[in-house]
Amino acid sequence: MHVLITGGAGFIGANFVHQTLRRFPEATVTVLDKLTYAGNQGSLEGLEERATLVVGDIADADTVDPLVAQADVVVHFAAESHNDNSLNDPSPFIRTNLVGTFTLLEAVRRHKTRFHHVSTDEVYGDLELDDPAKFTPETPYNPSSPYSASKAGSDLLVRAWVRSFGIEATISNCSNNYGPYQHIEKFIPRQITNLIDGVRPKLYGAGQNVRDWIHVLDHNDAVWDIVNKGRIGETYLIGANGEKNNKEVVELILELMGHEPDDYDHVNDRPGHDMRYAIDNTKLVQELGWEPRFTDFRSGLAETIAWYRDNEAWWRPLKAEVEAKYAAQGQ
Ligand code: NAD
Ligand code: DAU
Repeated sequence: MHVLITGGAGFIGANFVHQTLRRFPEATVTVLDKLTYAGNQGSLEGLEERATLVVGDIADADTVDPLVAQADVVVHFAAESHNDNSLNDPSPFIRTNLVGTFTLLEAVRRHKTRFHHVSTDEVYGDLELDDPAKFTPETPYNPSSPYSASKAGSDLLVRAWVRSFGIEATISNCSNNYGPYQHIEKFIPRQITNLIDGVRPKLYGAGQNVRDWIHVLDHNDAVWDIVNKGRIGETYLIGANGEKNNKEVVELILELMGHEPDDYDHVNDRPGHDMRYAIDNTKLVQELGWEPRFTDFRSGLAETIAWYRDNEAWWRPLKAEVEAKYAAQGQ
């Protein structure tokens, strides 16, 4: 089996490359990644024998076409992925998430290649804190930010290419991931690396916003289950019943790293900040038999903290620039 993994030098994609090579000893992988600020070749270190990195843009048809032609399956992670960046400059989100996905869809249509599109629960908008409902595959799309709107658009392109052109595609919409190799602009690794540097964690607004945390390895196991057993044209929601508000998460990081629970700062809130995400994973669990392995958030977080302590060389070169950008926004 030869797998084309777009965005395989990013957080979730790199973990997916490692998992794929472990899970399928005969498989080979091509990673197509533009190595934007979010891509890191170091995340693929040691895999060179079975994983080839092609540095290129998913929106460039001449690059994409021959790679899709060689693949048995395409798993599409590449995206501009950070909400805060999309509020400062939406344009790369439109090009990569929409034009990039379109370019891949045209190539899989030409070569009749199995395609899996990795998306986000943010396409559904947000929920009230006291709403008993969770997101289901039937929840209407209602994205809030340029990032989530561009991901919503990319999902709709995939659905249209399935219906109109009969491509063999599936879609997954997952909740917030945590684990190794996550860029330090994101909430959890930002706070861990701040504390390693003796800086207080930064909580947007009151910290009441809820995210439904899942370990990245659980997300990726579900993606393989969908690729192998999912029904063509279907959407599967991936989540592990991990709802926590941001204040709780910061307090747990502080405790695990030996600090007082109130040793953090409130900073400017994100404009249009989604209040709550929550996934109903019934379809994935009942239809495909997927179950999360990392159900203890405390120990998953402790392992993640240990990873950032042990891999300072991986994130250190990024830290000053990330923090300067946040400081300029009062965050
Ligand atoms: P990331 O930002 O860490 O990685 C994105 C990768 O895509 C980087 O390696 C980057 O270099 C590459 N890339 C960006 N533009 C490209 C282009 N034009 N051509 C080729 N490569 C390009 O993102 P992530 O957190 O790993 O997210 C991966 C996917 O999962 C995204 O589609 C995202 O929407 C989705 N997702 C993320 C989460 C989460 O919690 N992080 C949750 C649900 C879904
Ligand atoms: O729900 C899935 C989504 O999760 C993915 O589609 C996105 O790619 C991924 O980035 C993530 O989006 P969020 O916006 O939820 O993640 P982020 O890590 O940026 O922020 C998580 C929460 O923490 C959010 O409520 C904002 C808050 N936050 C974030 C940062 C960076 C803080 O309070 N302080 C911070 O310093």
